[in-house]
Amino acid sequence: MPSFLLLFLFTSALSPPSSATTTAESFVYGGCSQTKYTSGSTYESNLNSILTSLINSASFTLYTNSTVAGAGDGDTVYGLFQCRGDLQNAACAKCVAHAVAQLGSICLDACGGSLQLEGCFVKYDNVSFLGVEDKTVVVKKCGAVMGYDSGGWARRDAVLAYLAAADGSGGGYQPFRVGGSGDVQGVAQCVGDLDAGECQDCVVTAVGRLKAECAAAGWGDVFLGKCYARFSHGGVRPHGGGGGNDGRNPDVEIEKTLAVIIGLIAGIAFIVVFLAFLSHYCEKRKGKLIQSNPINPL
Ligand SMILES: *[C@@H]1O[C@H](CO)[C@@H](O)[C@H](O)[C@H]1NC(C)=O
Ligand SMILES: *[C@@H]1O[C@H](CO)[C@@H](O)[C@H](O)[C@H]1NC(C)=O
Repeated sequence: MPSFLLLFLFTSALSPPSSATTTAESFVYGGCSQTKYTSGSTYESNLNSILTSLINSASFTLYTNSTVAGAGDGDTVYGLFQCRGDLQNAACAKCVAHAVAQLGSICLDACGGSLQLEGCFVKYDNVSFLGVEDKTVVVKKCGAVMGYDSGGWARRDAVLAYLAAADGSGGGYQPFRVGGSGDVQGVAQCVGDLDAGECQDCVVTAVGRLKAECAAAGWGDVFLGKCYARFSHGGVRPHGGGGGNDGRNPDVEIEKTLAVIIGLIAGIAFIVVFLAFLSHYCEKRKGKLIQSNPINPL
């Protein structure tokens, strides 16, 4: 049973983000609890201190959990973050800071919130969720159906099988797994509070859903409460891995510029219409006044 009630669940648009615009800070999903705290309360200051400590920890570790015990019932805050296993510390810190800032606006005054960006996951609540496996399906997205040859599907299946294997690399417990075969890439990751058995169970479930529901798709994403699995055929939806993503993205810049231009055009159009209306209205008023004057006995 998910201990975390999601009132709002935001997910990115159904179309896959194009590879060019995907960065570690790209939005995947977010949710907030229905319960609210009152501003100025102990809970608010406990929450602020836990979020600050998560941001600070993110510059030297890829996972941490934190608990700030409150004096009263319900004042205790539990929180964690998990960065993508191949992020550099600087990129992890940047991602977590970005996630915390976004949570502050999308989950304003909510006791609990969670946000998954491409590069990191941040969650907090006054109900403990630390160490609790959660296989609730939060996001399931499949790309367009593709006509790959049998070799392409075999490589996809091999990558998924690798992700689902407990110790694919022979190195024992792997909470972060990246696999590739030819043009197919796959990635799976658990949140660091799960133990090896729970992580394995969660990833196997996510991979099973991917296989069943995105069977003929060019890419697929399944995010469960505490783990995810994703695959893509090269070029269709590369998962922006690697550390960094610090550089400014030209496509994002172009989109921003376009948005500004469209905004300007809309603004000018509005002013033109408003002025036309105003002059029309004034003409009418003038006309009415001229007409009404002779009739008016005064
Ligand atoms: C969390 O906070 C809400 C709102 O203050 C409260 O109703 C709820 O009982 C709290 N939950 C726990 C587990 O204390
Ligand atoms: C939470 O953090 C503490 C101290 O860092 C650690 O000992 C504990 O195992 C962690 N718990 C979970 C569920 O990750």
